[in-house]
Amino acid sequence: MSADPAKKPDIPVIQVPRHPQWPHLDAREKAALKDRIRAMMRERNAVLVAHYYVDADLQALAEETGGCVADSLEMARFGAASEADTLLVCGVRFMGETAKILNPEKTVLMPDLAATCSLDEGCPAGPFSDFCDQHPDRTVVVYANTSAEVKARADWMVTSGIALDIVRHLHARGEKILWAPDKHLGHYVQRMTGADMLMWDGACVVHEEFKGFALERLRRLHPDAAVLVHPESPDEVVDQADVVGSTTALIQAVQQMPNEEFIVATDDGIFWKMQQMAPNKRLISAPTAGEGATCESCAHCPWMAMNALQNLEQVLREGHNEIHIEESVRQRAVGAIQRMLDFAASR
Ligand code: 13P
Ligand code: SF4
Repeated sequence: MSADPAKKPDIPVIQVPRHPQWPHLDAREKAALKDRIRAMMRERNAVLVAHYYVDADLQALAEETGGCVADSLEMARFGAASEADTLLVCGVRFMGETAKILNPEKTVLMPDLAATCSLDEGCPAGPFSDFCDQHPDRTVVVYANTSAEVKARADWMVTSGIALDIVRHLHARGEKILWAPDKHLGHYVQRMTGADMLMWDGACVVHEEFKGFALERLRRLHPDAAVLVHPESPDEVVDQADVVGSTTALIQAVQQMPNEEFIVATDDGIFWKMQQMAPNKRLISAPTAGEGATCESCAHCPWMAMNALQNLEQVLREGHNEIHIEESVRQRAVGAIQRMLDFAASR
């Protein structure tokens, strides 16, 4: 791997929000709220596109109303194929932006536009563009968890579900890569492919909290458990994994592997879908750093937690929180995303 730390720009300090506390709803209130949302969705010809990390009620509603619950790659594909007029994206901002970039004619609404991502926050477009300018010989590959402006500077966008295949493909063509922003995912991809990758210094504040030493101890307590790790986690956690993969790959592992117990190193919002697909399996959250760490260290993304039935209803009622992308940025960003989708379709 090449590195030129002297030329790397400083990444901003990430302000990690506290998890919002949503008022408790009893079963009747929740059912009535879901009915109101369903009615407004019909009026708008809207479809719900949710990530596996958001609140279980939103994931269930997406399924009940013909929407999708998926990883970033499938969310992008689903939005592009949907005939709905409005995409309600429950996830974080880059997911709504990707939907809008691919579907400029559609209205894209999100429960909270402040729901961002530490990787996106840690890779501002200006310094990133300067970094690219310093390395014109490299193919620019950015993770989906970036702003539209950063994607506009990229040759390729990848998600965790397809990063290995795309980098392998570029490496086989002899291309050197500039990778941003997640250094852990980047390092994992670099180790697996042997590609020449120059890294941006970003990280996910949720996955970075998973700790290798504590995981070793937990594995000793559960020797028959399979260890499932999202590749945004640090090397010492990835190195202990039986399966490393996107959220979809980890869910499939719970379904397909014979083990009865799984230690899971990713956001625990995923447990709802894992439990739905494999109700008899036991899921254990991988250990985090605990209090005093860089985020609340609870294996739950504070930005994903900004999505709830309550603010989804508000957004549908008022039509606010719409994603807008300047057309010149959109036109430059769509190529990197479409290249990934075309690559995925060609396999
Ligand atoms: P996936 O694409 O694997 O769902 O990952 C998205 C993400 O933000 C993980 O933290
Ligand atoms: Fe971003 Fe990490 Fe949250 Fe995923 S879990 S959206 S990478 S901060």
